[in-house]
Amino acid sequence: MASSSEARKRDVRNHILFEVATEVANRVGGIYSVLKSKAQVTTAEYGSQYTLLGPLNRASAAVEVEEIAPKDPAMIATIKSMNERGIQTLYGRWLIDGAPRVLLFDTQTGYYKLDEWKGDLWNTAGIPSPPDDHETNEAIVFGYLVAWFLGEYVYHEKEKAVIAQFHEWLAGVALPLCRRRKIDVTTIFTTHATLLGRYLCAGSVDFYNNLQYFDVDAEAGKRGIYHRYCIERSAAHTADVFTTVSHITAYESEHLLKRKPDGVLPNGLNVKKFSATHEFQNLHQTNKERINDFVRGHFYGCNDFNPEKTLYIFTAGRYEYRNKGVDMFIESLARLNHRLKSSGSDMTVVAFLIFPAQTTSLAVEALKGQAVLKSLRDSVDHIKENAGRKLFDKALAWHEGMELPDERDLLTQQDKITLRRRLFAMKRTGLPPIVTHNMVNDTEDPILSQLRRCQLFNHPSDRVKVVFHPEFLSSANPVLPMDYDDFVRGTHLGVFASYYEPWGYTPAECTVMGVPSITTNLSGFGCYMEELIENASDYGIYIVDRRTKGIDDSVNQLAEYMFEFTRKSKRQRINQRNRTERLSDLLDWKRMGMEYVKARQLALRRAYPSSFDADDQAGEAGYFDGTENVKISRPLSAPGSPRDRSGMMTPGDFASLQEGREGLSTEDYIAWKLPEEEEEADYAFPL
Ligand code: UDP
Ligand code: G6P
Ligand code: GLC
Repeated sequence: MASSSEARKRDVRNHILFEVATEVANRVGGIYSVLKSKAQVTTAEYGSQYTLLGPLNRASAAVEVEEIAPKDPAMIATIKSMNERGIQTLYGRWLIDGAPRVLLFDTQTGYYKLDEWKGDLWNTAGIPSPPDDHETNEAIVFGYLVAWFLGEYVYHEKEKAVIAQFHEWLAGVALPLCRRRKIDVTTIFTTHATLLGRYLCAGSVDFYNNLQYFDVDAEAGKRGIYHRYCIERSAAHTADVFTTVSHITAYESEHLLKRKPDGVLPNGLNVKKFSATHEFQNLHQTNKERINDFVRGHFYGCNDFNPEKTLYIFTAGRYEYRNKGVDMFIESLARLNHRLKSSGSDMTVVAFLIFPAQTTSLAVEALKGQAVLKSLRDSVDHIKENAGRKLFDKALAWHEGMELPDERDLLTQQDKITLRRRLFAMKRTGLPPIVTHNMVNDTEDPILSQLRRCQLFNHPSDRVKVVFHPEFLSSANPVLPMDYDDFVRGTHLGVFASYYEPWGYTPAECTVMGVPSITTNLSGFGCYMEELIENASDYGIYIVDRRTKGIDDSVNQLAEYMFEFTRKSKRQRINQRNRTERLSDLLDWKRMGMEYVKARQLALRRAYPSSFDADDQAGEAGYFDGTENVKISRPLSAPGSPRDRSGMMTPGDFASLQEGREGLSTEDYIAWKLPEEEEEADYAFPL
């Protein structure tokens, strides 16, 4: 750590990198997306010198990780020593693009030391831990296992410098331990939110106008999270380098965690380009067909809307009702419904809400819808086949002078009875359900309550229909059998009206898939795009103002964006999708990853200044604090696209992150510009 750095000299160029998080090979939310999508660029840079450390979740590891034998002698020795003392581990390759190495610790096997470690955490870092907080216990055991691992690893590996980057407080306990024990590694703590931020926003607090004034200890205490807050704050303070994912969260961290981040590391995506430019449009069409199938089944008996005039709008994420802006979305849907009705629009909007909640099973009515559709389709296929065969035979037998085959003879009596039965099965007494599962807490569920309050009941007269799917999507689900990515591709618009959103992967994922989205200026992603692109809505990035407007005005703005969207022609939607997709290079880790590189450079310099040659010394002043004068002002693109703003050269930080002299070339990350406008021919219809 920096404090003990004077005498230390390790090989900083050929260093080892560990990334530590609880979502390694285990999907919970966006941190999984960070690690997974970034793996390819990080393994390209580090190869076998990169390992992700996480807790072992046996269910997900069984499908995501392939066990292999380690080759690095220090890794072998460390794992062996921990195994000998009862700690079970899984070393393997994470089966994703880049196939990075992972080392997963079975935290259960460390619980025999929980009490000892809790006592130690109190004695060495002054962090208390109540007995019954399972999540904190997990964090403590995991943190002690990671510190144990790192301590032994650098004992065996004496030549190379080691960087350990920790994501979020749940992985943060090892940070104060590394500092206390003077473990010879350099550390980065990257927070993807603050605990207090999440809690305060989830309540009804005017968060952003009061950030400077919160009595943080008291607020944490009131919410029963003081001990967790202590872990988070101590992680932020004991890391050599402290970073977060957006400016808005940097500001929040400064006030709530009381350390100003050294820089911002925005999230990228693993962008896959198709060889044919418009292949993603075809994917939209095929996946939309799959959603059509679900909708036909779900709304059986009330299928009175035209699929050609139907738009699919969705929102999705972890179930944080207020933070994810679900309250605002539903209210806006109600207003949209009203506007579509009163303007006599012939468009129908089907709005999907995908938030995992506690459920007991799939609802019978939802299953029945798909079953009814399937038997209708099977019967029609059967009748079609019979009729085709009959027609063919009659045509074969036909000769001059005979009547042409009569189409009325094609259906048998049996066919007619089958068809009638299928049609009768499609009669329904109630309305199509607004939720696909049986909820554990149906009467108090906030989404259901608000849908009911707003009277969004899928009535035939409603122009906005709703489907709440309280489970993450999966192709194994019998009702809506689609993986999330395929589903997103098939929709027309994503809406993420978040109040608290440090970054927000969901709209970013829409962008790279060429699906327009609505986000807010309280989300890291929204602010990032607003900064970067002048006419963002032309590119399918709509940003609702939740910062300066009152709630009612924001709801109206959102409803207006959606209403305007329903007025677009098919051609306009296709063109807009093309533009949206062209932004994807902007979000590619190949570009965004530069900030991670810079943060690691800074961590090495802070911990091992003497390992850098004298003429390599960039000096720390100005390195991350914005005082170094290397800004280049130059347009990122032709006028009318991304803004020409001085200090906006790096994806991560519009002012402060600056590269050191060695290794990094500014050209690498300022060279991005929007691809050329599409051919004239694509604009055959006026927008
Ligand atoms: N997601 C998913 N399946 C779903 C809905 C969402 O895997 O059915 C993923 C989505 O792809 C995204 C993540 O959940 O990567 C949510 O990340 P985000 O950064 O938007 O929010 P967080 O949950 O981290 O607060
Ligand atoms: C893509 C397909 C087209 C299809 C269109 C539908 O562009 O390539 O064949 O007509 O999607 O767009 P829509 O916005 O109506 O779903
Ligand atoms: C957090 C935030 C989310 C962000 C993700 C990845 O979970 O809630 O906004 O996108 O981390 O950084």
